[in-house]
Amino acid sequence: MSFTIRPAASADRDAIVALHRAAAVTPGALARAPEEVTPAYADGAIAADICLVAVESDGFVCGEIHARRESPAIFAHVLGGLTVAVHPERQGQGIGSTLFEALIAWARGAEPPILRIELAAGAGNPGAVRLYERLGFQHEGRQVARGRLADGRFEDDILMGLLL
Ligand SMILES: CC(C)(COP(=O)(O)OP(=O)(O)OC[C@H]1O[C@@H](n2cnc3c(N)ncnc32)[C@H](O)[C@@H]1OP(=O)(O)O)[C@@H](O)C(=O)NCCC(=O)NCCS
Repeated sequence: MSFTIRPAASADRDAIVALHRAAAVTPGALARAPEEVTPAYADGAIAADICLVAVESDGFVCGEIHARRESPAIFAHVLGGLTVAVHPERQGQGIGSTLFEALIAWARGAEPPILRIELAAGAGNPGAVRLYERLGFQHEGRQVARGRLADGRFEDDILMGLLL
């Protein structure tokens, strides 16, 4: 299935909600449970400093990535708050990698410069951690029992960073 990457627009809100709700079905993958993915959440993603969508030829939004430049000024070279989601029926086809490559390319051209991209992944999401390692992210630490899953189990967060 071919797809293109473009900046998200406000008209993508409902498609982003549907995408994140679908991707959130896997426990521990995304921070939000499906019922926590709201139109306001999607509006916030679209309003982030960078929000890209992967779109198939028929308009189906199969992936999304967004992130924010950190504040205050001391952190302004840092891109954080990163979230990425690919529709479960489209995972493993290169969409997530392509979204990341486009985000990194945007960050390299950002003004003022972005010198660092950071993210966190649940320790129970080793596929995502492997993808981030392949993209060049380094392991920077671990937050013990940062998340609590619906079944009551705690899960660590793996902190990762990429210096540009
Ligand atoms: C993580 C995610 C964004 C990766 O996007 P993707 O399009 O599936 O990834 P790509 O096809 O570009 O790359 C494949 C790699 O992604 C990783 N991966 C993570 N979850 C995967 C999945 N469900 N299926 C296939 N690959 C997955 C693997 O490292 C895989 O590499 P491998 O073949 O060596 O195992 C996507 O699987 C997803 O949305 N998952 C659910 C939400 C999530 O976990 N978000 C990240 C929160 S930190």
